[in-house]
Amino acid sequence: MKKQYEPLFQPYTLNNGVVLKNRLVVAPLTIYDSGDNGELTPAARRFWHDRFEGFGLFVAPFTNVHPSGVGFPSPHAFSEAHLPTLREYVHIAHSQGAKAVVQLAHAGLRSQGRDVLAPSGDPFGRFRAMTSDEVAEMVQSFAYAAELALRAGFDGVEIHGANGWLIQQFVSAQTNRRSDEWGDKLRFPLAIVDAMDEVRQRHQRPDFIIGYRFSPEEPGEQGLTMHDTLALIDALCQKPLQYLHVSLWDFYKKVRRGGNDEYRMKLIHERIGGRLPLIGVGNLYTGDDIARAWQTGWAEFIALGKSVMLNPNLVELLTGGRDNGIQTHLDWNKVDFYRYTPAMLHGTRLGMDFYPPSKNKR
Ligand SMILES: Cc1cc2nc3c(=O)[nH]c(=O)nc-3n(C[C@H](O)[C@H](O)[C@H](O)COP(=O)(O)O)c2cc1C
Repeated sequence: MKKQYEPLFQPYTLNNGVVLKNRLVVAPLTIYDSGDNGELTPAARRFWHDRFEGFGLFVAPFTNVHPSGVGFPSPHAFSEAHLPTLREYVHIAHSQGAKAVVQLAHAGLRSQGRDVLAPSGDPFGRFRAMTSDEVAEMVQSFAYAAELALRAGFDGVEIHGANGWLIQQFVSAQTNRRSDEWGDKLRFPLAIVDAMDEVRQRHQRPDFIIGYRFSPEEPGEQGLTMHDTLALIDALCQKPLQYLHVSLWDFYKKVRRGGNDEYRMKLIHERIGGRLPLIGVGNLYTGDDIARAWQTGWAEFIALGKSVMLNPNLVELLTGGRDNGIQTHLDWNKVDFYRYTPAMLHGTRLGMDFYPPSKNKR
């Protein structure tokens, strides 16, 4: 293994005493292939099986905390009936030697269905404002999902406050125009953290991890600025969390508004100031990409999404001195190797830039 990869394999002890064996995280990756009740399908099992051996932490993707919040085929965590599937995700991670957290989410105004819930309604009636009671109940739904995750054997949860889903809709002035107490932009996410912490205390499980993922900025006049995000970070750092996880498509993206001409990662990491570890992410494929990002010192952990999709043996390549074999483009001539689900293949064929690029045409 190259010398510059060695620091990535140092363990890290979270503030609740849990040790993650190294600094490599499997970024949450929705694979758009779940059964009607959120269960793993044969295609999903094929994708996740034996994919991330050697990683310290697996973040199981977007998992619905409430039936009203489903935006696309994804796992569920809102009833006892979902425990077997949640247990299967835990088994998939633990059998590959990684700790496992599950990302708990609600799609909010981007949910499917007839009665679409959001912090504030829209003039065309596509979604409506939740009542104050519904918001309080939703906080409890997040907490109940965390309780199911705990009972299923997950090592923790990741609160999905990123990518424009319900929690971020509450944090952003663009989507939260409420005049009740939930108009306080930080109230909803902080209430969720408190409610989950209460679950952990009730079960006497201080070792149960609670992480929080956020997106730092939004486009649009009223959209989130870095200034808003730094305030959210300060509030989160006072809560009993174990890590923060920024959602970025590019590790080196600079601040758009509400900060100097600075790298987002750098600014965020400086603001956290060691109060919590930060997971950084974004367009890192090769060993050199990962090592260079690590050397910035802007993150305690590096998450990898698309590289895990293209390299079901990524850590083995890194540690075995075969890092020049890491793929950065999908090769249609050996497409079976990636074990993509049909929806992922379809998206790739359409050239959706969300997916890893292809090196040839299908
Ligand atoms: C197919 C796909 C599915 C994703 N699903 C999720 C998700 O469920 N939750 C989430 O927070 N981010 C999701 N993301 C974003 C990734 O976690 C990650 O932040 C992004 O891909 C950038 O990292 P990368 O360049 O290493 O892939 C997804 C990305 C891709 C490509």
